[in-house]
Amino acid sequence: MNSITRSINPRAIRKFRKSSFQRPTFQQSIRSQIHPPTNLRAIAMASSLSPVSKFDPKDMEFRYLGPTGLKVSVFSLGGWMTYGKHVTGNPVKDCLQAAWDHGINYFDTAEAYFKGDSEIAMGQALKELDWPREEYVISTKIFFGTGRKEPNCRGLSKKHIVEGLKQSLKRLQLDYVDIVFAHRMDPGVPMREIVESFTQVIRNLNLAYYWGTSEWTAAQIQEATAIAERYNLIAPVVEQPQYNMFARERFENEYAPLYSSFSYGTTIWSPLNYGILTGKYNDGIPEDSRFAKEGEFFKETINRLRSPEGQEKIEKVKKLTAIAERLETTTAALALAWCAKNKNVSTVILGATKVEQVVENCKALGVIPKLTDEVMNEIEEVLQNKPEVKQNIWTQR
Ligand SMILES: NC(=O)c1ccc[n+]([C@@H]2O[C@H](COP(=O)([O-])OP(=O)(O)OC[C@H]3O[C@@H](n4cnc5c(N)ncnc54)[C@H](OP(=O)(O)O)[C@@H]3O)[C@@H](O)[C@H]2O)c1
Repeated sequence: MNSITRSINPRAIRKFRKSSFQRPTFQQSIRSQIHPPTNLRAIAMASSLSPVSKFDPKDMEFRYLGPTGLKVSVFSLGGWMTYGKHVTGNPVKDCLQAAWDHGINYFDTAEAYFKGDSEIAMGQALKELDWPREEYVISTKIFFGTGRKEPNCRGLSKKHIVEGLKQSLKRLQLDYVDIVFAHRMDPGVPMREIVESFTQVIRNLNLAYYWGTSEWTAAQIQEATAIAERYNLIAPVVEQPQYNMFARERFENEYAPLYSSFSYGTTIWSPLNYGILTGKYNDGIPEDSRFAKEGEFFKETINRLRSPEGQEKIEKVKKLTAIAERLETTTAALALAWCAKNKNVSTVILGATKVEQVVENCKALGVIPKLTDEVMNEIEEVLQNKPEVKQNIWTQR
């Protein structure tokens, strides 16, 4: 006995030894990890080791992003033509918060949107909202640059993929994005350089977890995947294409082999065909709408809408409104639910300038089960544009 233990009661020493030096049983150690003692939890929370969860999934549906383990809400929210110019400051935060409150965990932007201002606006909103980083998914897209004229400030060279993404992250005030997209194909750059650059961004620089393509041809995606396989590089896993009731051919036909061969994921854009599928353009262009605010950009689309072909579209929207009313929903919610009904859609990216639009569009979730075969056939009767899906020539011998 040394001088300290000598003066202490032996029973107290036994008790002290038992409580301090015995290894916890397996069950005890698991229990203490799940329910750490209150003081430890307080310390962990204070040092943000164990941040308080802020996300409530509500009744949102989550889908795997293609062949990956990443789960994204079937509706998500993007910042094109909205955040950073027409919507700034607190209203951006309000739209993101409204989406989050409906169980949306995925947000999309791009370096090109308002020359980087969309990333700045969404990054600032995310910072102020202070959601735990692991609770939301965010993507950006590289290719178009931010309007700078220098030859290497756009495209898919290794230089711009790496430097462009680093600049995007600065604007977003983030360390990494979950998904980085090649916003278009760059025919001037060898495919091997593109695949190597995205692999480097993910594997060596930790700036993203996954990479995807946007508006690439199915053949280009197949080539990128083959190169990744051959050289032990990382293959793209997701495409960001336009898909809505009026734009179906590429998504439903050209990309069909991507779904069956690679389980390729999709984050679809302009699900309301820029707003036309809300019915808001049925009687002209309302003030305060996208076509009024961005008339120059949408000049061709507006002219087409005024042509006989465009008027035919409007007639179809009116017939869709009749179906929506019968289902006790809005034309927008019907059009969005129709996109989500397709299981090859990983997520439908919503666009919204107002909180009310986010709220209305999220109602589409409840419309999906109402889209029975009968209703879907009725919608096909109205649309008259079902693509003829050809056989998968890749798997034919
Ligand atoms: N990869 C690509 O090349 C690409 C291209 C385009 C978009 N995207 C992504 O896809 C996202 C969505 O595209 P999008 O914004 O074109 O989608 P959209 O759903 O076709 O159009 C959204 C716009 O329609 C109007 N709107 C939406 N809901 C409405 C409602 N309930 N009632 C009335 N008006 C309503 C709003 O504009 P107003 O209020 O101004 O009329 C809104 O900004 C973008 O934010 C972006 O992330 C990607």
